[in-house]
Amino acid sequence: MMKLRMAVVGVGHLGKEHARILSSLPEVELIGVVDANPAQAETIAQRCRTEAFTDHRHLLRQVDAVSVVVPTSHHRSVASDFIRAGVPCLIEKPLAASLPEAEELVDLASRHGVMLQVGHIERFNPVVQDLEKRPLRPKYIEAERLGVFSGRALDVGVVFDLMIHDLDLILAMVRSEVTHIQAVGASLFGRHEDLANARLTFANGCIATVTASRVSMKPSRTMRLIGAEGMACLDFAQRQALLLQPSAKMRRQGVDPRQLDAAGLAQLKERLFGQVIERRELNLKDGDQLTMELQHFIDCVRTGSQPKVTGIDGLRAVRLATQIVDHMQRHAWEPDQAHSPIGPTQLPEPVGMLLRAEDRTDWHLPGEKAA
Ligand SMILES: NC(=O)c1ccc[n+]([C@@H]2O[C@H](COP(=O)([O-])OP(=O)(O)OC[C@H]3O[C@@H](n4cnc5c(N)ncnc54)[C@H](O)[C@@H]3O)[C@@H](O)[C@H]2O)c1
Repeated sequence: MMKLRMAVVGVGHLGKEHARILSSLPEVELIGVVDANPAQAETIAQRCRTEAFTDHRHLLRQVDAVSVVVPTSHHRSVASDFIRAGVPCLIEKPLAASLPEAEELVDLASRHGVMLQVGHIERFNPVVQDLEKRPLRPKYIEAERLGVFSGRALDVGVVFDLMIHDLDLILAMVRSEVTHIQAVGASLFGRHEDLANARLTFANGCIATVTASRVSMKPSRTMRLIGAEGMACLDFAQRQALLLQPSAKMRRQGVDPRQLDAAGLAQLKERLFGQVIERRELNLKDGDQLTMELQHFIDCVRTGSQPKVTGIDGLRAVRLATQIVDHMQRHAWEPDQAHSPIGPTQLPEPVGMLLRAEDRTDWHLPGEKAA
């Protein structure tokens, strides 16, 4: 079988991993890596034994498929050149930095008959893949995605950077229209929101609460999904899942603790998790998610099949993220809307200092004069 000729555009933090994996796959010939920073392109090209480029347009006619891993604000300009050249693209998440740009990419791909896959990598998380095979119609979801400050992806806010992973998963799992949104967010560094919380109501009655931060002391990526079938607690980072379901006896007869004497209540407490409510823990460490995602893209390019995460899925996630940011930007912090600060960048006036003087330290950035 002919090797698939591929390139990676943008070989920074994540793109260098795309290049490393693609250069190791026997069915791929990594034609080149592209980075606007020539030294970075050269370093990664040497590491992956391929050629370095600083302009992706040199590769438009040389590749069968491409990974686009430039900062989000460059997705549209880079990917649209490949789409016009008829090259299938794996575009990192989020599909684009704005709704019009995401719509433009999907429309362009449809007009050129070009396949798009979007890098919503959690779809390849084994805990998600396991849950997909089980019947669960979630009616209540709580998602939390907390990241430590990385200094990257500052061209977008935390909704487009991190929350978008959960928005994509929730849209794929709930499969219903969002009918109502409430959202708040706060910016710590001044331009985009760094903390965000949204409550989404779906036409099918499901309610989802989604929280994201990119300035957290401890990283965490979890989701709890509750439906009539039971509850799934997913830990994406640890790749663990806890599944709970009411036992047949509990469903048949109900268990009313008010009818039990002290001994019965003690027994109920002891047997609550395991027997009264059945439980199963999953520890799914096998497989590298990025390799699975890239392998899936390659298989789809080869077979012409539809990827697990299409351009339209990426567009839906960007649309919902945009609606959340719009609501957040209209959020009034005080009841008197006419005089209230509004949105993530205008927080209300603090009523005092949470920490006392002895708990605080004076500090300054390198090159800055002390106050
Ligand atoms: N799926 C995930 O979990 C995940 C994780 C991290 C990042 N991402 C996404 O990957 C993308 C890149 O993120 P990152 O953290 O690797 O960023 P990064 O800043 O570390 O790397 C981006 C690289 O692209 C280069 N670049 C910029 N413009 C370019 C252009 N026009 N042509 C060629 N190279 C260009 C930069 O020089 C840099 O080396 C973003 O869209 C981000 O949202 C996804």
